[in-house]
Amino acid sequence: MRILSGIQPSGALHLGNYFGMMRPAIELQEQGEAFYFIANYHSMTSLFDAAERRRNSLDVALDFLACGLDPEKSVFWKQSDVPEVAELTWLLSTMTPMGLLRRCHSFKDKMDKLADGDEEKVNHGLFAYPVLMAADILLFDSNVVPVGRDQKQHLEVTRDIAIKFNNTYGDTFVLPEPRIQESVAVVPGTDGQKMSKSYGNTIEIFGEEKAIKKKIMSMVMDSRGVDEPKPDADQNFGIQLVRLVAPADVAREVEEKLRAGGYGYGSLKKDLFGFCWEYFADAREKRAELAANLDYVEGVLKRGAERAREVAADVLARAKKAAGLD
Ligand code: ADP
Ligand code: TRP
Repeated sequence: MRILSGIQPSGALHLGNYFGMMRPAIELQEQGEAFYFIANYHSMTSLFDAAERRRNSLDVALDFLACGLDPEKSVFWKQSDVPEVAELTWLLSTMTPMGLLRRCHSFKDKMDKLADGDEEKVNHGLFAYPVLMAADILLFDSNVVPVGRDQKQHLEVTRDIAIKFNNTYGDTFVLPEPRIQESVAVVPGTDGQKMSKSYGNTIEIFGEEKAIKKKIMSMVMDSRGVDEPKPDADQNFGIQLVRLVAPADVAREVEEKLRAGGYGYGSLKKDLFGFCWEYFADAREKRAELAANLDYVEGVLKRGAERAREVAADVLARAKKAAGLD
């Protein structure tokens, strides 16, 4: 089984990224041949600062390795070090109906945010983004793609493109399946909405202690007092986060205390911070070691790119042959 996923270097990684994509990806590296990459080409659709992209890419590498990506088990590289993906994107783009891309939520959301849908302000890369993502996946004969729920539609687009290519030029691409962990499909942010960089409601995995504490303590719930019982405790978004970062029995206890009354939101938030900080303690230590050993990290990415390129070259040659480009 070949497993593949990517993550954009567009800012500090947060609990949504970790529980939605990174942890499932790290668990899957035990079950097959895992291919994970830093999607720096994708980040070009919305980040226009070269130094920031460079810095973020290194940060993502450190974060992912610190959280448990094992370079002995997984191939790990920077997307732009395997430029075959850009060539495959062209082949696939000729198989992609415009309507399919226009219907993508990620694109529609960006358009809706613009006054009177001003298309001039949206770059073609953003529109074509799902085609690049399809190329990422199909270039490696991927079977399984671990992602959060927001990427499900992009996987459907990938499958549609692969089917159309296969029907047009003969069987070429493997059809991938998304792997979405339902228990963490949508991790809530500090405002209760989906945690996302673009909503400014994130809790960073490797943020500063003070900053994280401040973000968690400023979470606004409802106006019920400390003593009031809260029978809907299981719906509370603080509890949903506690369930992710505390041991299961401890999380149940916290939920019961909230339900019973006599335990207020201040205590809940303080406890949540404690669990969070503890959960990533080992990873923080590992990250500090890696940050002091950047040659090692660069070496991992370089070896990963070499291995990824071997696979990519084969699949690209197969696709070019099928399309009469050999
Ligand atoms: P962001 O929304 O912060 O920009 P990305 O879109 O870069 O995050 O997401 C990277 C990966 O993390 C994707 O696989 C995505 O599905 C997952 N992910 C991001 N936010 C969440 C969340 N709140 N819950 C679950 N998964 C998430
Ligand atoms: N679009 C994904 C995101 O924003 C990142 C990504 C790019 C990806 N290429 C991919 C994820 C291929 C899985 C497979 O999160």
